[in-house]
Amino acid sequence: MIKEKMSQALNKQLNAELYSAYLYFSMSAYFKSINLPGFSNWMRVQALEEMTHADKFYTYLLSRGGAVELETITGPPKTWESPMAVFEHTYSHEQKVTSLISDLVNLALEEGDHATNVFLQWFVNEQIEEESSADGILQKLKLIGKESSSLFLIDQELGQRVFTPPAAANAKA
Ligand code: FEO
Repeated sequence: MIKEKMSQALNKQLNAELYSAYLYFSMSAYFKSINLPGFSNWMRVQALEEMTHADKFYTYLLSRGGAVELETITGPPKTWESPMAVFEHTYSHEQKVTSLISDLVNLALEEGDHATNVFLQWFVNEQIEEESSADGILQKLKLIGKESSSLFLIDQELGQRVFTPPAAANAKA
């Protein structure tokens, strides 16, 4: 059975993952409002992925006999100054999540909780991808500046992103 301190910390991360989903749904709605459907699609897929991250914490907590304590999710911003501002926010948000995951790993090691440490390694790897994809789009937006034809091309590219449910993703791996 998981120790109380670790259980509380994982509950906090469950809340943080749900906040990430809220944040990205809000960004998705913002992009829709400024007529960038591809960006909106990318962010919606991102939000759905965050829901699967939350579900991983939920399922893990229960599997270890921990209590799931759902807390209030803070409302995210509703608007941003530009697509670039959205991706600056996304990149810095993911960097923050990476540091939250690192803190959890440190706690698991301090507590001698090897099962939780192993569980968290999936997130350690995932955060490399999360930061890299947000930064990749941010760098493209910096390069194009105010060129609207290039923005349209990126919008088309981001419109191709498809949500892959975890079971299907596992089957492919
Ligand atoms: Fe759940 Fe974007 O990391």
